[in-house]
Parts: sequence; C-alpha cells; structure tokens
Amino acid sequence: MNHKIIKKKIIKIFQKFNLSKNHSKISADALINAELVGAYGHGLSRLKMYCERIKKKVINPKPKIKIKKISQNIFHIDADNSIGFVAADIAIKLAIKNTKKNGLSLVAVKNSGHYGLSGYYAEQAVKKNLITLIFTNAPPAVAPHGALKSLFGTNPICFGTPTGSRVPFILDTSISMINRGKIRVAARNNQKIPEDVALDKFGKLTTNAKKALEGVQLPIAGFRGSGLAWMVDILSGVLTGANNAGKVKDPFDDFSGPQNVGHLFITFKSNLFEKDFKKRIKKNIKVIKKLPKIKGVKKILYPGENKFYRYKKNIKKNIAINQSINDDIEDLLNQ
Ligand SMILES: NC(=O)c1ccc[n+]([C@@H]2O[C@H](COP(=O)([O-])OP(=O)(O)OC[C@H]3O[C@@H](n4cnc5c(N)ncnc54)[C@H](O)[C@@H]3O)[C@@H](O)[C@H]2O)c1
Repeated sequence: MNHKIIKKKIIKIFQKFNLSKNHSKISADALINAELVGAYGHGLSRLKMYCERIKKKVINPKPKIKIKKISQNIFHIDADNSIGFVAADIAIKLAIKNTKKNGLSLVAVKNSGHYGLSGYYAEQAVKKNLITLIFTNAPPAVAPHGALKSLFGTNPICFGTPTGSRVPFILDTSISMINRGKIRVAARNNQKIPEDVALDKFGKLTTNAKKALEGVQLPIAGFRGSGLAWMVDILSGVLTGANNAGKVKDPFDDFSGPQNVGHLFITFKSNLFEKDFKKRIKKNIKVIKKLPKIKGVKKILYPGENKFYRYKKNIKKNIAINQSINDDIEDLLNQ
C-alpha cells in the first residue's frame, strides 16, 4: 500500500482514539518513517498496542505537557503520559530552536512513552547542522552483567552529526545482542536463534527461542554493554524523574499504569570549537572509507548510511503490510 494512503488511515485511527489532529499526524509520521527505514518492530506492528493503551487510559490522548525552563540551555518536560512520539517531537524541536540561539541545549523528559526510533529525532537536529546525543530507557529485556533477571531495557544510544554531505552520520543502536521481536518470530517458526544472545531460565546459553523467551537477553559486549545500558537508565530515568531500575512498564502486556519512560536530548552546534567542522569531518570520513577492506566488503559504511539509502529506496515503493497488521488497521478504523 502507498505510504501516503496508510498515513491518512493512521491519522484517522489516532483521531478516533481522541488524539488531536496535530498529535495524530506526528505519531503517524514516526510510524511510517520506521516502516520506510525497515525498523518494522517500531512501526505499524505497534499501532494496535498504542490504541489499546489509550483505551485503557494508560496513554493520555489529551496531555497537558509542561515545559520548565531551568536555565537558558536547560529544559525539563513533564509529558503528562502523552504518546511518546509527541513528547519527543516537542523535546527535539525545543532543543533545536534553543541551540540555534544559545549553542547548546539539554532537554530532559519524564512521564513519556515509547517514542520509536531515536535516530528519527537525531536526523531532525542533524538537518539543522547540529550534533546530537539522544537517550531513552525501555521496559526490562536485558539482564545486567552477572544477573539472572532482565532489568535493563534495550536502551538505545544515539549519536548524530552532520557530515558535510547529504547523508547524516547517525549511530543509533540498542544495547542488546538481539531484539525481542526477532526471538518471538523464531519461537513461532520453531527456528533457532544465534548463539551468545540469550540465556535460558537457568542461566545457560541457549539457541532455543522458546527457552530464551523464558530466560534473559544478553547485552552487547558483556559487562561493557551492561554498563552502557545502565548509563542510559541513569541518564533517561534517574536524572529525568522517569521510571528506572526495571520499573518502565512493558507497553504490550502491562496496562497497570502509564509507562513513564524518560528521554534525554542533547544538541549543540558543530562549529563551537573549530569553524571548519564540515571540512574536518569530511576528511575524517574520507580517510576511514579509503582503508583496505576485508574480503567480501566493497564499501566501508558509516552508521546511518544504510538506513538513509533504505529510506530513499522504500519511499518510491509501496509498504508491504502483512495480513494481521492490515486486519488491525481495518479493525481500528471500524471501532
Ligand atoms: N524506543 C525504544 O524503546 C527503543 C528500544 C530499542 C531500540 N530502539 C530503536 O530501534 C532501532 C534499531 O536498533 P538496532 O540496535 O536494531 O539497530 P541496528 O542494529 O539496525 O543498527 C545499529 C547501528 O549500526 C549501524 N549499522 C548497521 N549496519 C552497519 C554497517 N554495515 N556499517 C556501519 N554501520 C552499520 C546503523 O546505521 C545503526 O546506526 C533504533 O532506531 C533504536 O533507536 C528503540
């Protein structure tokens, strides 16, 4: 289906669930973008879940979002349990606007929800020639190093910078070896998962997807990844006033209250210290791309390049929607 047609349907659905037209559009844009960059786990497969959460009053469709100015560079947003896309949209736009004036911004958000892809917000800052760091916490999925219980979310770490070309550098990576959606699909299809990505409930490495779902996911790079996940939980949760230490609720199966996810957005001008940043980064990338390559590798890519080209290709094509998501959309339109 054409992405413009799907977007219209999504906007209509969110409006039916009492979001304003503007908030519906912001949310639909983020979902369609996730589909177009190929991040299906953060796209239309979540639409039904957001609507369920609105219906069960754990997402507030008419939030009274408060922005507290702490200094000329620092802002604290209480998102009033809005859908995460709206809180993140307000935060990144505020950060960008303020950075143009003051060179640097720090925007913390509490009482938010799942906002999709950090890179989507990073791109907006990079388009305005800014460098950005973005953090969000997420519900428990990953065991802290040495623990036999999931506590950290897949807590993505995102860094974006202009490159002096039209393709931004966006490193946007979760801290788990594998995403939970992939384990769920493998379990449904009786497929094995890779080694070294999950433990069973007894703490033994497993390639059995069903056993992995009963056990825990592992962080990237052992204790180093665990440390990074912890850092994200502190920056997004402890610092901002949001839930943390395993308290962020799972949006799919915990309707006992709002998620209270936290986010942190840092943006600053790329030429704060050296006027010729663009020239310097172009040279930096050129040196790395020219390195001799290992067998099978034609091109060294920088983070974000793959998603940029995938988006460019996919925007010209129809979005393939599987039957169950199509059924969800039709069902939600008729509610
Ligand atoms: N909101 C949430 O709670 C939440 C939680 C987890 C993940 N996410 C989002 O999910 C998305 C996917 O995360 P992921 O960890 O699966 O990402 P990924 O593994 O697809 O990519 C991670 C990073 O590696 C880069 N990359 C990939 N292949 C590369 C190559 N060959 N050479 C150089 N760089 C390469 C990508 O551009 C990206 O920056 C992210 O956008 C993230 O923000 C959101």
